[in-house]
Amino acid sequence: MKIISNPLELKEYLKTNTKTLGFVPTMGALHEGHISLIKQARLENELVVVSIFVNPTQFLQGEDLDKYPKKDEADKKICELSGVDILFFPHAKDIYSEDEVSLLAPKVRGFVLEGNSRPGHFNGVLTVVMKLLNIVEPTNAYFGKKDAQQLNLISLMVKQLFMSVNIVACETMRESDGLAMSSRNVYLSKEQRVQALKISSSLQIAFGMVSQGIVDVSEIVLQMREKLEPLEIFYVEILSRDFEVLENVEIGNSIVLVEARVGTTRLLDNIWL
Ligand code: PAF
Repeated sequence: MKIISNPLELKEYLKTNTKTLGFVPTMGALHEGHISLIKQARLENELVVVSIFVNPTQFLQGEDLDKYPKKDEADKKICELSGVDILFFPHAKDIYSEDEVSLLAPKVRGFVLEGNSRPGHFNGVLTVVMKLLNIVEPTNAYFGKKDAQQLNLISLMVKQLFMSVNIVACETMRESDGLAMSSRNVYLSKEQRVQALKISSSLQIAFGMVSQGIVDVSEIVLQMREKLEPLEIFYVEILSRDFEVLENVEIGNSIVLVEARVGTTRLLDNIWL
């Protein structure tokens, strides 16, 4: 596995590449969720590039940028064992300069749900993803469905800016008890870990109700909110796959989304129905 930290060096290295290239952008602290994205990229492409970059512009002031989990050596080993060809490991100074051209998330879709609790977060996400895609120029780029709003906005960016990369949506990986895998799960104490299960259980309630033919969104959300108590809920929403408001669940076109705080940790999860 080749490790490159300079964006221009990576661009130069890939300049003559004619192989299909799968790209998995990450912020490190890799877990089974990331490994499944890498495996999918490995299966579907001749060359696999993974980036590890804790992007400062997607953290708001007072968020966990400084204490975001860092596991550089373990991450390198995981990438090597997962068959990654190139690991891109840039420093912030290689990606950002003082006076930046900036990319803004759409005014509506970028500022609801997580974008409402973290205004400006998606400006940072889209900016860095745009930069990474321009550096790597992949055939396919892999993103988890767990960050459904991020995935939706990146797909929108690719469409609206006429970019030619194919965005691949990958399934959420879960612990055996149902908790969605996330690098932030390491912040949870034993007790909080148990509390956090309320999030996946609330999604199971939605799944169960829809399976019984109950499709009224407000009825389902009410039951889910009850299950989530006493967690601090940021949102419980059932939207179309295109993030439009629904009155009734539409099978094959709905996402049930939850964001809640457990202790000081924000956790998000969703299921696609
Ligand atoms: O999902 C993430 O890990 C990040 O938001 C991403 C896409 C790597 C951009 O920094």
